[in-house]
Amino acid sequence: MANRIPLIAGNWKMNKTNSEAVELVKRLKVLVKSIKANDCEIVVCPPFTALSDVAKELKGTNIYLGAQNLHFEDSGAFTGEVSAQMLKEIGCKYVIIGHSERRQLFGETNAAVNKKIFAALKQGLKPIVCVGETLSERERDKTKDVIKKQITESLANVDVNKIVLAYEPIWAIGTGKTATPEQAQEVHAFIRSLIKSESTRILYGGSVKPDNIKELMKQKDIDGTLVGGASLDAESFAKIVKY
Ligand code: 13P
Repeated sequence: MANRIPLIAGNWKMNKTNSEAVELVKRLKVLVKSIKANDCEIVVCPPFTALSDVAKELKGTNIYLGAQNLHFEDSGAFTGEVSAQMLKEIGCKYVIIGHSERRQLFGETNAAVNKKIFAALKQGLKPIVCVGETLSERERDKTKDVIKKQITESLANVDVNKIVLAYEPIWAIGTGKTATPEQAQEVHAFIRSLIKSESTRILYGGSVKPDNIKELMKQKDIDGTLVGGASLDAESFAKIVKY
């Protein structure tokens, strides 16, 4: 059995102003201070505007900082975009790449995800790469085909030991409808067979809450979670971290 340290990450999406973000981590860091880095890695991913002040608040704590996206170029005329170097300098350790909302709402392709992974790795950031199927794909029994295509194309030539993966079934995101632990485990095991790595962590995301985290984390190939809504409240995120 590979020794994979659990990772619990909060994806705040487009929530929290800078001052609200700082308030949230001030409360969170007190609630989770007893957690040892070897027991669980804790990550928060605030919006870009709050990264700098949240980074200051997290100095010397057991909580790591992550961003929600990046551009694959180093710098240049890309209005509205943020580079890996900018994220690195501000104190990010992680960056979410290819979240389904980026794929669905902003047209992000597997090819773009692949470029973003290389840009992040070049700066020493750890990508959290997201994959997942829609409800209609699941109902048409296409889940494994979709995941295989996303994994193969997004991770082309990528060293899977340098990244974290997140399986987020789109039908479970923000719907309150979690995949059952067995449904999630089945896809996680499939992803592990595709990447052929025992050390790569595979997170589950989609309506993770304090009352379903325990059962999810009992699954052999679930190594942590990517939490949306429930990470916006310090108490509920702390409960998830302390599952
Ligand atoms: P919810 O936890 O709100 O369903 O969001 C999941 C998610 O998209 C995390 O990246």
